Amino acid sequence: RTVYLNGAFLPENEAHLSIFDRGFLFGDGIYEVTAVLDGKLIDSALHMARLERSVGEIGGRLPITTDEIVEIEKCLVAENQLTEGVVYLQYTRGAEDRNFFYAEDLAPTLVIFTQAKTLEHVAAVEKGLKVKSMPDQRWARRDIKSVCLLPQVMAKRAAKAEGFDEAWLVENGLVTEGASSTGYIVTRDGRIVTRANSQATLPGCTRLAILDLAREAGLALEERPFSVDEAKAAAEVWLTSASNFIVSITNIDGAAVGDGTPGPMFKRLRALYMENAR
Ligand code: PDD
Repeated sequence: RTVYLNGAFLPENEAHLSIFDRGFLFGDGIYEVTAVLDGKLIDSALHMARLERSVGEIGGRLPITTDEIVEIEKCLVAENQLTEGVVYLQYTRGAEDRNFFYAEDLAPTLVIFTQAKTLEHVAAVEKGLKVKSMPDQRWARRDIKSVCLLPQVMAKRAAKAEGFDEAWLVENGLVTEGASSTGYIVTRDGRIVTRANSQATLPGCTRLAILDLAREAGLALEERPFSVDEAKAAAEVWLTSASNFIVSITNIDGAAVGDGTPGPMFKRLRALYMENAR
């Protein structure tokens, strides 16, 4: 694979970073994951807008424009002949001797690489996914797409140990989101419910795209939190993320949602999303 590191396109085994990089020492960095389908970046403008916002929130500065970043991502996709998969981007504040305070003139680190992965025709589309609920033990600025992912790694580890596919994180009795996905329910009377954006969750790019499609299709939306119990009793439950698009959740904590198969509203939105992505 060819990867991008600080202005250069390099073979992956020649791309080296300092052990003093603040991303490594402090988790002082931001990331984005963008899907690629048929060699095309999906929801790219939304990911670039969120990247700029996250970097701004930590008082950072991108070394190049987001337009230039998109051009680099397209070059990598072409060079690596990636038809389906993801582009991963990581920004860090740069490298210097370890010090919580940082030099204002530090040169940031920017790494971009591609990863091949089947996204469209996966078993989860037919079968749905199983989620396990657990306390949300993350920090209070989840709207920033920080590379500090230890709580998410621990949550997914606990979920996987019991045979679940994703962790659903709960705070004050309400679901915030999945460890790496946005959560939704469809009420018995057909209303799509998902949390409003706030500092409690990551503002999902796929969420924005799906809600737009739902609105265009005339479906009823409600932006509010919901509990695990409400989700267990819902008509349908979904998650969205760049690497899953939209997928049904058919089991929560071992209990089947509805008849345990992906529902009709999910199928409709998945089809609309895939059509729109092309
Ligand atoms: N995760 N919430 C969290 C905590 C996430 O990490 C993600 C994405 C989402 C969905 O956001 P989007 O639709 O923009 O991908 C919600 C990425 C895919 C990851 O960490 O791999």
